[in-house]
Amino acid sequence: MRIIRNAMTLGLVAGLGFAGAVAQAAADPILTRKAIMSSVGAAAGLGGGMMKGEIAYTPAAGKAAIATMRAASLSFGSFFPAGSDTGDSDAAATIWSDAEGFATELDKYSAATASAAAASGKSGPADLDAFKAAFGPVLGTCKSCHETYRKQN
Ligand code: HEC
Repeated sequence: MRIIRNAMTLGLVAGLGFAGAVAQAAADPILTRKAIMSSVGAAAGLGGGMMKGEIAYTPAAGKAAIATMRAASLSFGSFFPAGSDTGDSDAAATIWSDAEGFATELDKYSAATASAAAASGKSGPADLDAFKAAFGPVLGTCKSCHETYRKQN
């Protein structure tokens, strides 16, 4: 549960920052978490595209994909307050009924992004092989969380 509590503190700090910039937007954790996951999807598209050779690899782009994943893994867990289980969301009820299991999945995800960020260093992984070694494990964490904690449509 420590992860969730830390994530909530981060979320609060981030929330205070955003409040000044977008004062008129009503707080909507569902919109926020979906937008964060959407950025995760985009980063997976960039990183996966480079891994498959569909997008030319550059260390800067590798770093961007990893940094997006890292930021998402630290913020995503903050946007599941009680009561946000209904509405236009694919979050499964298991997130609230099995909060500990969800925290474990978040933990795996952030552990993978922490290793990737460490390997990324200042300028991004030097070559495609180094990027694959760093980014592959991050992509390996999507499925098990989605299987249990995201509605299967
Ligand atoms: C800790 C759990 C967890 C992990 C890890 C995770 N996701 Fe998700 N993801 C979710 C949940 C929950 C939703 C549904 C959010 C909602 O609709 O409120 C979601 C939704 C999404 C969406 C749809 C966003 C939208 O616009 O509605 C995409 C795309 C996505 N995830 C991609 C990924 C990818 C790619 C990875 C791996 C790099 C990943 N996710 C890792 C839990 C996770």
